[in-house]
This record gives sequence, structure tokens and C-alpha cells, in this order.
Amino acid sequence: MARGLPDYRLIAAQIEALAEEDAAWVPLLANASALMMDGVDNLNWAGFYLMRPVGADAAGNVERELVLGPFQGKVACVRIAVGRGVCGTAVATDSTQLVRDVHEFAGHIACDSASNSEVVVPIHAGGRVVGVLDVDSPLVGRFGEADARGMEAVVAAIERCCDFEGLA
Ligand code: SME
Repeated sequence: MARGLPDYRLIAAQIEALAEEDAAWVPLLANASALMMDGVDNLNWAGFYLMRPVGADAAGNVERELVLGPFQGKVACVRIAVGRGVCGTAVATDSTQLVRDVHEFAGHIACDSASNSEVVVPIHAGGRVVGVLDVDSPLVGRFGEADARGMEAVVAAIERCCDFEGLA
């Protein structure tokens, strides 16, 4: 049976409406992961990883890694280094990763063995990447370019309305 494109614009609008009540990142991203899980078919995981300091280099530049944030799905890996896996690659390259088959992505980190395809979109605030939206499906090839663009619209809504205060 033909499957329509999920209504990513509706999800984006719902996130912006929720932010009018409370824009803090914990409640907003918690509900955003629920909206993605409800509104996008054939997902086994939807959520966020957020950048957190791990120290500083010799020059005093803060080094960061991704740490698990609000999500829906099975227990997931807690920390991901920048440049590692699909999430770390999205941060290192500051670009959306659309992965048709995760088993063909060198360095993919398998949190849930049910995952076969994945989209990761970087989130920006204050001129830098502060985290990623990560969405996994048990179906190979579940996501196309239109899904990636739709998820970028969801992230754009988050970038407009989410208050990341308290996130170092
Ligand atoms: N597969 C991701 C890890 C996070 S889980 O999918 C929730 C990656 O390779 O970065």
C-alpha cells in the first residue's frame, strides 16, 4: 500500500505551539520526540543527543561530545564522540545524514539492533551545533530526501523556539 509523506509541517507547528507554554529544552524536546514517534510511521527510535563539554584542550578550547537527551524507544548509548557514528558525523560535518541502510554506513553505532535506516539532523543555537535529532526505522530505505527535508523543517522550528539555557 502506498504510504504518504508524514506531516512534518504539522509536527513543526505543534512544537512551536508547545513552546508557547514552556520553551525549555527538556519538556520541549521530550514532547518533540513523542510527536515524531506518533506522527512518523515505521520508527523504532526518535530523539535527541545534545552537546556537553568533556574538557578543554591545551589552548583552552572547550571539547564537547554528544550525550543522550529526551527520546522515545529502547535504551540507547549514552555518549557519542564528535565524528563517530551517524550522529557524530552529522555534528562533525554540520550536515543532515540520510542513511538508507545503516549496515552500509562505516562506523554506525548500533543501539537498537532493530534499526536499519536512519536520519540525523544537526540543531543550531547561538551560532554552533548544540545537538542532533536522530530518527531510526526498522525498514531499510524507510527515509527519502523528502523525509530529510521534512525533518530539517522540524529542526528549524526547534531552532526558532527552543530555549537551550542550561545546556553548556
Ligand atoms: N545509530 C546512531 C547512534 C544512536 S542510536 O541510533 C539511538 C549513530 O550511529 O550515531
